[in-house]
Amino acid sequence: RKNSPRTSQKPPVQSNITEMVSITDHLLELFGAAIRASFPNLTDPPVIITPSTNAKFGDYQCNSALPIAQVLKNQGEKVSPRDIGVKITTNLAASPLVEKTEVAGPGFVNVFLEKKYGVNAISSVLKNGVKPPKFKKSRVIVDFSSPNIAKEMHVGHLRSTIIGDSICRLLEFLGHDVVRLNHVGDWGTQFGMLIAHLEDRFPNFTKESPPIGDLQAFYKESKKRFDEDEVFKKRAYSCVVKLQSGDPDSTKAWQLICDVSRKEFQKIYDRLDIKITERGESFYQSRMVDIVKELTSKNMLEEDEGRKIMWGEQHGQGIPLTIIKSDGGFTYDTSDMAAIKNRLAEEKADWVVYVTDAGQATHFKSIFSCAKRAGILDPTKHRIDHVGFGVVLGEDGKKFKTRSGDTVKLVDLLDEGLKRSLDKLKEKERDKVLTPDELKKAQESVAYGCIKYADLSHNRNNEYIFSFDKMLEDRGNTAVYLLYAYTRIKSIARNCGKDFTANIKKIIQETPIPVEHEKEWKLVKVLLKFPDVITKISKDLCLHHLCEFVYDVSTTFTEFYDSCYCIEKNPQGEIIKVNNGRVLLCEATAAILGECFDILGLKPVSKI
Ligand code: ARG
Repeated sequence: RKNSPRTSQKPPVQSNITEMVSITDHLLELFGAAIRASFPNLTDPPVIITPSTNAKFGDYQCNSALPIAQVLKNQGEKVSPRDIGVKITTNLAASPLVEKTEVAGPGFVNVFLEKKYGVNAISSVLKNGVKPPKFKKSRVIVDFSSPNIAKEMHVGHLRSTIIGDSICRLLEFLGHDVVRLNHVGDWGTQFGMLIAHLEDRFPNFTKESPPIGDLQAFYKESKKRFDEDEVFKKRAYSCVVKLQSGDPDSTKAWQLICDVSRKEFQKIYDRLDIKITERGESFYQSRMVDIVKELTSKNMLEEDEGRKIMWGEQHGQGIPLTIIKSDGGFTYDTSDMAAIKNRLAEEKADWVVYVTDAGQATHFKSIFSCAKRAGILDPTKHRIDHVGFGVVLGEDGKKFKTRSGDTVKLVDLLDEGLKRSLDKLKEKERDKVLTPDELKKAQESVAYGCIKYADLSHNRNNEYIFSFDKMLEDRGNTAVYLLYAYTRIKSIARNCGKDFTANIKKIIQETPIPVEHEKEWKLVKVLLKFPDVITKISKDLCLHHLCEFVYDVSTTFTEFYDSCYCIEKNPQGEIIKVNNGRVLLCEATAAILGECFDILGLKPVSKI
């Protein structure tokens, strides 16, 4: 194997970069080019970039030398990993992000970040705001929350609501065209008994809205009759048929029942500030008829004990969908086949995200596989994700229940959050400092913030223990700690006096971000990870990375603030000196934290 001369293959120097970019992506490109130039005969050589675990080894590392040595060895060529590392660095183009590189041990290339880049990038945050990393814009449908009419909206739906909303916020920040859909369970056989029961209990229902406040109790009553009374059962079945064929009275009854649930759901969404558009299973009724026709004509449905089922791409593998029940009715599977077709073909989505508990993973696997087989889903064009999450447990490690063993009503849960958050604020004697209005704002910010943050900060794939005591702690990675930290950081610039606040725009233009002190540079480097974190989450849709990042920012900020004076005061408490550059660093920290809070659905308040 012959190597061409190195110099001629050296990629051109990158143009200057003055805003925050994903450092990992940039280094992948930079090292990728150097590695390909060093080993032109290797197809797809491994390019591995990781953040360094020890400051001694720089800020990032390229760990490709060892695997490349292995590949070469397999081809019968013996080269020491260290020589490979050296070769990579000689072919490495200059980059505005890289101060220097060093080859260490068996060919690890340690990368030290360039301070000038840090200064420029953080300064651009203050000048232009926190900008997202550049992405191809997609049309994304996020199917989340999705409770069922007449049944309770439980903590599982709360998780879906919180995680789904945060994913939407992230995608919106990235500039995607996001459609937030509430796929409520508003169709199906349970409506037969509900309608039949409504007709009996409130015969006047077409003229006067029936007072069914407690729809769950109403559901239980009708279920009891359905199970015990054969005549009622028959009527319930005929009611479903009437509803599905568009009979006006049945439709009216169905509408009334849905409205009761809808109002309850909306209360939760309003309190948590969740925007979502309802498009329930009923929306797909005619589309279910169409998809059944399509799948039948494509010969994809099979008889199975009176049912019609559909296998995915691999016949006999996994679990088949039930497209038509033996009584001729449609199922949850049918509605999801109709929905995926609608979303990809009619709505022209490039990407669909489903947020439900992990228990539905097999269902979605089958749906995706069948959609591929039917030519609806094209993996080369569409991205599809089932975002699963683990079950919510109580502090005793068992299924989340009230003391008396009932399922916890979400409204009660949010009310308890409010009460606990107020207790916490009173314990800190904040009620003596804040006005009643400020106290109320702080109470809500803490209550809803801690419920959301506790959920998002855990890896969603695991089960999660719901504990008000834990989530309201003011130490560690909790919403309370972060909201306080943020408010404190925001107040620094405000406390600098008029000379600073009135001239901040000018100060931003004229003052470089300081990176001389070790703690200044450390804080800047943590902030610079923001685009990397966002990029990572857009791939795995795991929000806990962002929670780890904000915690990292807050603790690193504290280190900086403890050792670097921002404002100097005389013994009388008067300001004698403001270190403008450092205060700007505080402002940039607040700007980036603020953006993260926005993605996480936290609402910081100016006083807490
Ligand atoms: N209503 C369902 C449930 O409560 C969730 C629906 C999720 N979305 C979907 N397209 N299947 O479990």
